[in-house]
Amino acid sequence: ATTLGASAAATGRYFGTAVAANKLSDSTYVGILDREFNAVTPENEMKIDATEPQQNQFTFTNADRIVNHAIAQGMKVRGHTLAWHSQQPGWMQSMEGAALRSAMLNHVTRVATNYRGKVFTWDVVNEAFADSGGGRRDSNLQRTGNDWIEAAFRAARTADPGAKLCYNDYNIDNWTWAKTQAVYTMVRDFKTRGVPIDCVGLQSHFNSGSPYPGNYRTTLENFAALGVDVQITELDIEGSGQTQAATYANVVKDCLAVARCNGITVWGIRDSDSWRASGTPLLFDGSGNKKAAYTATLDALNSG
Ligand code: G3I
Repeated sequence: ATTLGASAAATGRYFGTAVAANKLSDSTYVGILDREFNAVTPENEMKIDATEPQQNQFTFTNADRIVNHAIAQGMKVRGHTLAWHSQQPGWMQSMEGAALRSAMLNHVTRVATNYRGKVFTWDVVNEAFADSGGGRRDSNLQRTGNDWIEAAFRAARTADPGAKLCYNDYNIDNWTWAKTQAVYTMVRDFKTRGVPIDCVGLQSHFNSGSPYPGNYRTTLENFAALGVDVQITELDIEGSGQTQAATYANVVKDCLAVARCNGITVWGIRDSDSWRASGTPLLFDGSGNKKAAYTATLDALNSG
């Protein structure tokens, strides 16, 4: 096929992008979005600070702009993210203990309920593990008790039983890293004990500090062998030209080689849309032209 989304769909997968609501008035941006992608992730609009700016006062205006656009275009929506230590509104940042636990669960329940039937996959919990050492990240949520993650997953399942529920993180791509092993151990434990988890999201922000690892496919296979889907959720790759293009192709081929790798999302459309202040990590240049990385990605999708 001739677009990313249609090529991914030929093997039963989706190809998505992060979308910012305030760019939906940019015709170049929307033109590429609608032509190439069949899934979207709101880049910031479903986060806790955006959806519950005051406690128990929920705002879905900006998220709805993205969701409504996606539904009109027949695109899937990945919900990002219900529980996270970052981008908490001020009221939540200053909470702790049992009050925070119940506020977090209320947030999960209310947001997942609001989008029931519209979001096919939720990042229920994002980035809960420490960057090194193989333990949990310290946060106000973690200090409510080690079971906060499973409590969030149970609340999400109850609120939206039809959605796939993911744990999402970065630097869990290299199988040998302690963080990867720690997340793997948690997912294995959840599956053993019947905690409702359906998928693991590998953000896959690749740069010189955390490059695409040669064992990426092994990591995808090992998570999938636990009985969960794996999704590449926030892909971007530092670099340019044929080197960058070849890495994009390798990522796509690794996903296609794993039956339970059911979708890939890039974290933005044009290089100028990237969260990275500098660099050229995406598939389209600042003018919206297809880069070598685009062509390599499309060709790899079509090789499946
Ligand atoms: O909207 C406000 C604007 O009103 C204000 O004037 C301006 C001044 O700082 O900030 C704007 O908000 C910014 C927001 O992006 C929208 O542009 C925030 O400061 C900025 O922190 C925020 O950055 C986002 C970042 O998450 C926050 O953690 C990035 O756009 C977003 O791409 C990034 O995405 C994360 C994923 O959620 C989780 N994984 C890592 C990934 C990259 O960091």
